[in-house]
Amino acid sequence: MKAIVVYGSKRNNSTSKAAIEQILKGAKEAGYDEVVEYDINKIDLKGCRNCGACKKTDGFCVINDDLKDYFDELTSADAIIISSPNYMSNVIGPMITFMNRHYCLRDAERNIKLQKKVKLISVYSQGAPAEMPNYEANYDWFTNCFIGMGMENAGKIVMRGQMPEEGAEIFVKAYELGKNL
Ligand SMILES: Cc1cc2nc3c(=O)[nH]c(=O)nc-3n(C[C@H](O)[C@H](O)[C@H](O)COP(=O)(O)O)c2cc1C
Repeated sequence: MKAIVVYGSKRNNSTSKAAIEQILKGAKEAGYDEVVEYDINKIDLKGCRNCGACKKTDGFCVINDDLKDYFDELTSADAIIISSPNYMSNVIGPMITFMNRHYCLRDAERNIKLQKKVKLISVYSQGAPAEMPNYEANYDWFTNCFIGMGMENAGKIVMRGQMPEEGAEIFVKAYELGKNL
């Protein structure tokens, strides 16, 4: 089985990357033997132009950048893990650009183009240690944009504050989500 991972953080000691490590550990145990990784800060990523080309054919986005390869991979993926640090209460700009490009996953009649449901785990990381209602609303809005394009919600991890200790509850939750993919 194949999983796609989209990394949003630029940091080495990233809490979202640490959570993803646990998700992948669980997923590998569950039979995922292929992981395709994209670093949103390194790939060639352009914004949706609203050109309408994706509404005229069964194909995906016509923009010639690294998402061409991503959409190819998505058609045969079983799961996707998306992640973003919180900048100014919301997901980072490049992740919103990435999300917007999923507009091409529905045709003009609003039918979903993906042949199978891809399971989606969303990982968010913030500096604030507490649960902040406005952040949660923003995170859920972001996740739901992907669900609206035909993916299946397989869970959310929010990393709050400093890097947790090894074996912390949030890491166990991340591992379990991966195992249940
Ligand atoms: C420009 C900028 C804006 C940020 N805004 C917020 C914020 O509004 N709320 C918050 O809790 N943390 C905020 N942070 C902190 C990051 O979300 C935090 O460092 C997080 O752990 C980064 O994710 P990572 O550990 O996966 O790299 C901000 C950080 C930066 C650089």
